[in-house]
Amino acid sequence: MNLFDVYPINDITVVKAKGSYVWDNEGQQYLDLYGGHAVISIGHTHPHYVGRLTDQLNKVGFYSNSIRIPLQQELAAKLGKVSGREDYSLFLCNSGAEANENALKLASFHNGRKKVIAFSKSFHGRTSLAVAVTDNPSIVAPINQTDNVIFLPFNDEAALETCFEQQGKEISSVIVEGIQGVGGIREASAPFLQKISKLCKEYDAVFIADSVQCGYGRSGKFFSHDHAGVDADIYTMAKGMGNGFPVAGIIIAPHLKARHGMLGTTFGGNHLACAAALAVLEVIEQERLIANAADTGSYLIEQLKKIPGLQNVRGKGLMIGFDVPEKWKELRKNLLFNQRIFTGEAKPNTIRLLPSLALRKKDVDAFIESLEEEIHVLEGAARVTE
Ligand SMILES: Cc1ncc(COP(=O)(O)O)c(C=O)c1O
Repeated sequence: MNLFDVYPINDITVVKAKGSYVWDNEGQQYLDLYGGHAVISIGHTHPHYVGRLTDQLNKVGFYSNSIRIPLQQELAAKLGKVSGREDYSLFLCNSGAEANENALKLASFHNGRKKVIAFSKSFHGRTSLAVAVTDNPSIVAPINQTDNVIFLPFNDEAALETCFEQQGKEISSVIVEGIQGVGGIREASAPFLQKISKLCKEYDAVFIADSVQCGYGRSGKFFSHDHAGVDADIYTMAKGMGNGFPVAGIIIAPHLKARHGMLGTTFGGNHLACAAALAVLEVIEQERLIANAADTGSYLIEQLKKIPGLQNVRGKGLMIGFDVPEKWKELRKNLLFNQRIFTGEAKPNTIRLLPSLALRKKDVDAFIESLEEEIHVLEGAARVTE
């Protein structure tokens, strides 16, 4: 049997990982500034994480939600404390798309409405409603198409206001990333998020903060929406939550009420997933990783801004993007194959940095040096062809 060919892949096989580094099957070391797409939050194979998961696996790996799983309560308490949302409740699932799917569904159960506002360049996942609120027609199958989604321009307060004035009583929810990831590291402005919050309250719509990529401390605050001083009704989380173990969740404001049968899952919140998520939060707290993301991220942004020719250096904490001029279009590939540094991309010409929140300044310095070296080579080649 062959694999269904849905990914363009790099010809690299990783066999070992530690902190912000991975090694391939030929023993080559790579600096990981991509974290397998923003997933590695506390660093690869962190000893506390490995220990907690191993210990849990030796006790009980899985049982379903038909019994008491005290680890879930422990996780909810810890997450409430670290996120500053102790009065919210937690529903656990397995992936970012599933978290958004559940959030949109819960909103619709809550107010009995069908319409959702989403924004240009959004990405919310690949399952039915999650992909329907994603602004990329090429990944929306005919069966996912619906008239229930209204796309508005990102950061356009006037368009939002007009839409609510015209259709406010039909709007079930508004879903927005605090910093768009796949869309190219585009920050939602504070006034825009504040306007969403205000209009949702006014019209009894549900404010869903997609924090799958920009959340869990990555921006230097637990949720990137926190930079705007707003409280969303539902936060969706995944990626960094399990540092690679598939665990996701939504936290839900107290005015949204649960009833049996409304949501459900077989795997969500299993013993191993909870152990992984608890280990991540424990390390985030013990090692002050949110503060590290803020400090190291500011330092990285400062260094990037000093490099002539890099365009639109932007982001918050360790969610950073910059644009690369056409003449340097090989930069990302050269960083990977010449300098052994993993970075992310966003089409058409953005390099995305999504490293572990434990990234150190000396890793930043090593990256900047390699980046300058590769730019120097590409600049030389560009001059020859001119
Ligand atoms: C903002 C955002 N939401 C949702 C998702 C979907 O998450 P998953 O791939 O875990 O389903 C992603 C994935 O990249 C994302 O970046």
